[in-house]
Amino acid sequence: MSAILPPAERLWWKHPLDRVEGTWIVIALVWCLMMFVMMVGWHVYGRQNLSPETYRTNPEQFSAKAQAMVDKYTVRTETADKIPVVHPPAGSDVYLVARLWAWWPIIELEKDKTYRLHLTSMDYNHGFSLQPTNINIQVVPGFEHVVKVTPNQSGQFSVVCNEYCGINHHTMVGRIYVK
Ligand code: CUA
Repeated sequence: MSAILPPAERLWWKHPLDRVEGTWIVIALVWCLMMFVMMVGWHVYGRQNLSPETYRTNPEQFSAKAQAMVDKYTVRTETADKIPVVHPPAGSDVYLVARLWAWWPIIELEKDKTYRLHLTSMDYNHGFSLQPTNINIQVVPGFEHVVKVTPNQSGQFSVVCNEYCGINHHTMVGRIYVK
């Protein structure tokens, strides 16, 4: 038999199973099952997996809530685009909007205080990646993800878009301050 000629026996599933082939199938199956169990296991034992709450939303609804927060708690603006820097009270709901190709607004949080961070996208899929930490959240249009965050380190953090979203994907960078 050669690779360029069709096999004499075309119904491959009727061929007897080779011992080695069978062994590999069993190994692969056991490994798949182990990884499947680990997905659940990491939620309990791994510290990096988030369990966000998710709700249905739409751009109008979410922007209204984000705008209300910005109107109430803006403390200054930054960059040439005058992006508002919002300092919401500890324990409150914080809204971050993802769109082509920006994160809005800039958020200022207090160290060791807990917030509910709400995320959505106004257009396409984006990814919320908090640098330099190992936090990654899909930001999907039509859905509002709510993540409980308690910053335990002060400084300036960057929010990088981690989901390819078009020609200016690489410029989609936001900012979070922790004081
Ligand atoms: Cu937004 Cu890539």
